[in-house]
Amino acid sequence: MRIQRLVIVIFVGLLAWPLLTTTASAQMVEGEMADAAIAYRQGIMQSMQSHAGAISNILKSKVPHTGHLAGHAAAMAAMVKMYDDIFPKGSEVGATRLKAEFFTNMATAEGIIKKLQAETMTLAEVAKSGDPAKVGPQLGKVFGQCGACHGTFRK
Ligand code: HEC
Repeated sequence: MRIQRLVIVIFVGLLAWPLLTTTASAQMVEGEMADAAIAYRQGIMQSMQSHAGAISNILKSKVPHTGHLAGHAAAMAAMVKMYDDIFPKGSEVGATRLKAEFFTNMATAEGIIKKLQAETMTLAEVAKSGDPAKVGPQLGKVFGQCGACHGTFRK
């Protein structure tokens, strides 16, 4: 009986181990790894900004490409999922504007990321219509969440 129980405990432990080690909160970066994590995060942010900026310029009729609205929004929807992984602990140290408060206030930070992800998914849906009148207000909601995080967790 005892050995059976021990085998079960070890088996469950082995199954759970990868889950424990791959969650964002369990990650910790230092030195060159932190520098790379910071540069990577900044790249993802830039990429979100460039797609959002492109949408914005289409909505302002600076360029005529309403047919690109869905593509930019789909790209944002793909990138925004990565926000779960781009704030490893330790990446607040170095050439970064990430505030250390991010890690003492994780519930707020994760709440903003979840809302941003939901608003961006809606943006991707709405943008399929190619209708600037629908895309504009939804892009505003997305920017609201970008701003919520920048205002709280960016130096
Ligand atoms: C959960 C928090 C959070 C959310 C949400 C967020 N950002 Fe950021 N953003 C940051 C932080 C922190 C930095 C500073 C990154 C660094 O220096 O390591 C940053 C930096 C940036 C930068 C500058 C990148 C650089 O080259 O230094 C841009 C552009 C940007 N964000 C755009 C956006 C856009 C657009 C959105 C929404 C679609 C967004 N961000 C959503 C936290 C966030």
